[in-house]
Parts: sequence; structure tokens; C-alpha cells
Amino acid sequence: MKLVHTLDELREITDAWHNAGEVIGVTPTMGALHEGHLSLVRAAKAGSDRVITTIFVNPTQFNNADDLDKYPRTLDSDMAQLAPFGVDVIYAPGVDQMYPDGFSTTISISGVSEGLCGAKRPGHFDGVATIVAKLFLQTSADRAFFGEKDFQQLQVVKRLAADLNIPVEITGCPTVREADGLALSSRNVRLTENGRKIAPALYAAMQAAGVAIKQGTPVHEALSEAERDILAAGFAEVEYLELRAENGLAPLGTHSEPARLLAAAWLDGVRLIDNIAV
Ligand code: PAF
Repeated sequence: MKLVHTLDELREITDAWHNAGEVIGVTPTMGALHEGHLSLVRAAKAGSDRVITTIFVNPTQFNNADDLDKYPRTLDSDMAQLAPFGVDVIYAPGVDQMYPDGFSTTISISGVSEGLCGAKRPGHFDGVATIVAKLFLQTSADRAFFGEKDFQQLQVVKRLAADLNIPVEITGCPTVREADGLALSSRNVRLTENGRKIAPALYAAMQAAGVAIKQGTPVHEALSEAERDILAAGFAEVEYLELRAENGLAPLGTHSEPARLLAAAWLDGVRLIDNIAV
């Protein structure tokens, strides 16, 4: 497993792999790795000859300086976690490598970026799309693996690759959960002990709403009840809880498959997101 910080070094390696006809898989991350990321690495190993894990805390996708400052930077422990998986390269560029002086390009994707997380985090998906496009071009990966936990991000990345004809096949990997249902996230460590006990109520309420919707309860009723349950459990705010079409994320007032229920809610000053198929 080689730690690479510069694009020149990365290109030397990926050129040799491509010349040898090898398929390159990439798992883009911001580090602070957990089992969710490792599941992407497993999928990448199974579906590629060579695997690159990128670790870059991307400043342009944070719309809050404090959130960016607080984001855990744990390269040593990330490397230790990746070591048993046979990852070939960890690409951890610096900010000046990704955004050199004079950098002026932003990729903005309409439609799937709008609403949900896009509504409350202006510019977030522009930052994601721009950095992911750079990572695709820099790694020249044939395959890329993203978690379904960030379902809107996954749709944005698929749109990006399709619209810009970037020859990379995108695979969405299932959300990994704790035994009590809480979706794994690098932000979970910021929950208090009490908050950690409350947190699974989000997924539980979403599941109950999903079942009710499939059994014919009107969507708005099922969502109102779920929101009440989430707040009653101790969450401070439900930022959104919406039923959307799985492909294209159009809002759904009535259930038609395939659909996704997506939520963001605040607990202990931490923003948790989750989604389920309905
Ligand atoms: O999901 C993430 O960790 C980030 O949004 C990504 C895709 C690595 C882009 O910075």
C-alpha cells in the first residue's frame, strides 16, 4: 500500500496499470474511515484489479468553517484500517494540489442537487461535483464506489459522470448500520452518550413510515407521524423528511416505486442523514 501525495506520482502509477490492461477502482473519501468506507473498499477490491482510496477533506463542500475545522483528520489510523484490505494506493493530496492559486472552475449540477441537502447547504454539491470530477480525472479510475448513505450525493455523482462523459462506472453500496440501526457516519462520534442512545430513533421512525406508506397510509400522514416520533425521541429538529423518486429524486406526494425516503435531522448539534428504499 503506497501513500501518494502528488498527481505526478499518481499518474506514473495509474499509467503503468492501464498499460498492463488493469481495471482501476477508486473509493473517494474524506478520511475518518469507518466500516461504511471499508465496505466500499471491499466492493472495489472485488470489482477491480487495482484499488485507490482517496483521502481529501474537501474545503469547497463545507458551507460552515467550523464544520470544516472540526472534521476529523486521522490519516495514520485510516492507513492502519486500510492495510489489511490490499488497497494499492492511498491518494492524499494537499489543498494546494487540488485547488492551486487561480483555481476558478466550479461544476454545478441542477435537478438532483436541488432540495434535500442541497437546500440547506448552498454550494455543497457544487463542491462535491467539482472535487469528484477532479478525482475521477486524476485517478483515471474505471470504476468508483460510493455509499448509498449519501443517496443524493450518489445521484449527483452519477449525473456528473453521465453528463461529462467521464468513462467511469459508478456503483452505489448499501448503507452500513450499527446493530441498533444507526447509519454509520464520521459525525456519530460527535454525539453525546445520551444522543447516541436517541440517534437510532431516526431510522426506526423512517422504517415505520416506509411500512405505513407501502400499506396505503397517505404519504403526508406517514411523514408527519414519523417527524413527531423523531422529535419526541429527543431530536432538536427535522430538517427534511421527504419521499422522492429513486431515479432523479423528483418529490412524490403519493407512493410509486421505486421510491426513497430521505431525512436529515439535528441531535446534539450534529446533523444526521439517512435514507431507505420504500
Ligand atoms: O462522501 C464523501 O466523503 C465526500 O463527499 C466525497 C465524495 C469524498 C467528496 O469529497
